[in-house]
This record gives sequence, C-alpha cells and structure tokens, in this order.
Amino acid sequence: MVQASARVKITLPPRSYEAVIEHGLLHRSGEYLRRILGDRKRLFVVTVPPVRRHWAKALVASLSGAGFFVEMLETRDGESYKRLATVERLAEKLTQLGADRNAVVVAFGGGVVGDVAGFLASAYMRGIDVVQIPTTVQAQLDAAIGGKTGVNLRTGKNLLGAFHQPLAVLIDTAVLSTLPEREFRAGLYEALKCGVIGRPKLFERLQETSVKELRNHPRDLEWVITESVKLKAQVVSADEREGGLRRVLNFGHTLGHALEAESEYKYFLHGEAVAWGMIAATRISQALGYLSAKTRKRVTDAILAFGPLPKVAATSASIARLVRGDKKTVNGMVHFVLPTRIGKVKIVNHVPEKVILETVDELRRFSGQRRRGRPS
Ligand SMILES: NC(=O)c1ccc[n+]([C@@H]2O[C@H](COP(=O)([O-])OP(=O)(O)OC[C@H]3O[C@@H](n4cnc5c(N)ncnc54)[C@H](O)[C@@H]3O)[C@@H](O)[C@H]2O)c1
Ligand SMILES: [Zn+2]
Repeated sequence: MVQASARVKITLPPRSYEAVIEHGLLHRSGEYLRRILGDRKRLFVVTVPPVRRHWAKALVASLSGAGFFVEMLETRDGESYKRLATVERLAEKLTQLGADRNAVVVAFGGGVVGDVAGFLASAYMRGIDVVQIPTTVQAQLDAAIGGKTGVNLRTGKNLLGAFHQPLAVLIDTAVLSTLPEREFRAGLYEALKCGVIGRPKLFERLQETSVKELRNHPRDLEWVITESVKLKAQVVSADEREGGLRRVLNFGHTLGHALEAESEYKYFLHGEAVAWGMIAATRISQALGYLSAKTRKRVTDAILAFGPLPKVAATSASIARLVRGDKKTVNGMVHFVLPTRIGKVKIVNHVPEKVILETVDELRRFSGQRRRGRPS
C-alpha cells in the first residue's frame, strides 16, 4: 500500500482548498505555503507545549527557510482552555505583535488548537486567513476539515463558534509518532466511523490491522488518514452547514455525546465515547430491523478489537435523558445515524425510548464482561 502524497479537494464556499497528506510534510510546509501565500510574510503559529516540544523546530525551520517571519503563540494544553478567554488573550497578543489583516494564523496542534486558532482567525479584525496543521489523528481526519471552529461555554461544548474555512490543511502523519497511545487509538475510532458510513474498503482494512501495526507502518497509516479525509471532504463539500448529509458524520455521536456529558468529559476521550456510541447505534439498527445480526457483529468486533475501552458505568435512565437533551436535536427530535450495511447509513428520528434504555444496559453488561482494568 505505497502512497507518496495525497491531495484531497474540499469544495466549500467561498472557495475550495486542499488537504495534503504526506509523511514528513512538515519539512516541506514552508515551500508549500510559499506557493499558496504568494509574497505574504508573517505567520502566527498557535500551539500547545507538547506539540511545540516535539515538532516546532522542524516547522519553524521549514517556514523560515521559505522566507516567512514566524511568531509562536503558545496556549495552555487541554479542553478546559478551549474558552473565549484564550481567544481573547491570543488576539491581544496578535495586536501586540503588530498582526494586520494580511497576517496568517497557523493552527498547529490537536482539535483544541484547531478550534481555538480557527475561531481566533475568524474573528480577528473581522476575519483573517488560517492554515490548519493538525497533529492528532482526531484532528487530521476530522476536526481540521470542514471549517467548523469554536470554543466551549460553561453551559455546553462548542456553543460559540463560526464557520471559517482554512486556506489549506497540511497533514503530516509523521507527527503522530509522538502521540500518546490512547489518543492515537481514540482517533482511529473516527476512522472506523468513516469506513462504516461510506468507505467499505477503509472498514475492511481497519478490521484486518491493529493499532500497533498502524503505528509501525507509516504508509498504511497515511492511507487510512487519506481515506478518512476523503470521506469527510466528500460529505462536507456536499453540505457545509449540517443541513442534511453532514449529519451522517454523527454516527456514534448521539449516544457518544451523552456518555461524555454524563461523565463530565473527564472519563472518556471523545473517540472512545464515539466507539461505544457506534456499538450502540449498530445494536439499535438491528433492533429496529435495519441491520443484520452478522454485520452488527462485524462492526462491534472491529471496534472492540482496537483495544480496551473505558467501561460504561452510567445508568440507562441518565443516558436516555442526556440523549434527549443533545444539541443536535432538530425540532425536538433526537436523531440517530444507523448503519444498514457497511458503507451505508440512514438517519432515524423515531428510536423508541425502550430501545435506547435496553441498549445502554447492554453496553454496561458488555463493559462488565470486557473489562480489562482502566485504560492506559
Ligand atoms: N471543528 C470540528 O469540526 C471538530 C471535529 C471534531 C472534534 N473537534 C474538537 O477537537 C477537540 C479534540 O481534539 P483532539 O482529540 O485532537 O484533542 P487535543 O487537541 O486536546 O489533543 C490531545 C492531546 O494530544 C496532545 N498532542 C497533540 N498533538 C500531539 C503530537 N503530535 N504529539 C504529542 N502530543 C500531541 C495535545 O497537546 C493534547 O494533550 C475537541 O475540542 C473537539 O470538540 C472539532
Ligand atoms: Zn467525533
């Protein structure tokens, strides 16, 4: 499965842009950005300490080598800093450094950095350009593509934000080598999601491989990320604002969000909650007669084969209540994305409460059986 470099086009108003996926791309990022930025000079790289420690040197060398003046802006690490206060602090820093409307923000980090820096760029001087250089699996195949940016409020996640498409997305899969194993695996559940909703070959490949194999075979990892990016690009290009088609990306997320919220975002990584959510959605799909028992087992086994998931301890009643309160309800209807076969899903908004309750009970039983201690 040899792959040199892949380019995926994302067609979104007001223009299209490219995601470039290439092992080692960081070292050529200056060259690439010089081509798309013409004679613009100043880049403001927003990052967090773990990413700066491992990768800033390579990035800055390449950008400076291409004649850019680079300023590094560091924020504190973690979801709890995805707040408006961080955006405000960064904006003030930009003015102190003399950033004008020609300045370009470079979001260099995981999904948190991408969301914060993207939102900063959307609002600074009423909007300046941003380039996304995602450094987690989650951000490379999901968060950096599609132009959603934003921050959390005390009252809920991602409630304050904007659509702001980047000029380009530079995806270097080599940077994933320093990602903690649990973060790496959590991101891969989203790749499995892409496979189930629309890329059967991706699903099959993920079913055959293991997390360890992917970590050791950069070309295979590059292929998995590329296929996932293609799926996301295809979906968002057809529907920027989640009117209809984009909702298929929420496979596993209706129940996943409820599990995250119930544990106050402290227990599951997002991808892990989505993994349980996908197991739940396939069960619901079978219960409603949309999915065969055989395919349900295939999906469930593929998810569980990736490694230990933190167990589900919440009561079914509390999860059902949170599912009803999900912000993605439309006109008060909760929607579930249910697979009908590998590569095809349907959106259903009439899942009986009883089926949801039984499904959560089953996840709890499943967790009991499969428990192998707390996740690493
Ligand atoms: N905008 C969107 O469309 C969209 C989509 C999905 C998720 N998100 C958002 O993305 C966020 C989650 O993103 P995430 O999972 O990337 O988490 P994250 O950004 O918190 O990164 C996870 C951890 O990995 C570290 N890290 C990042 N890259 C590294 C590297 N190469 N080596 C070592 N450590 C590294 C980070 O510093 C952090 O500690 C959430 O806030 C979520 O809401 C946004
Ligand atoms: Zn997700």
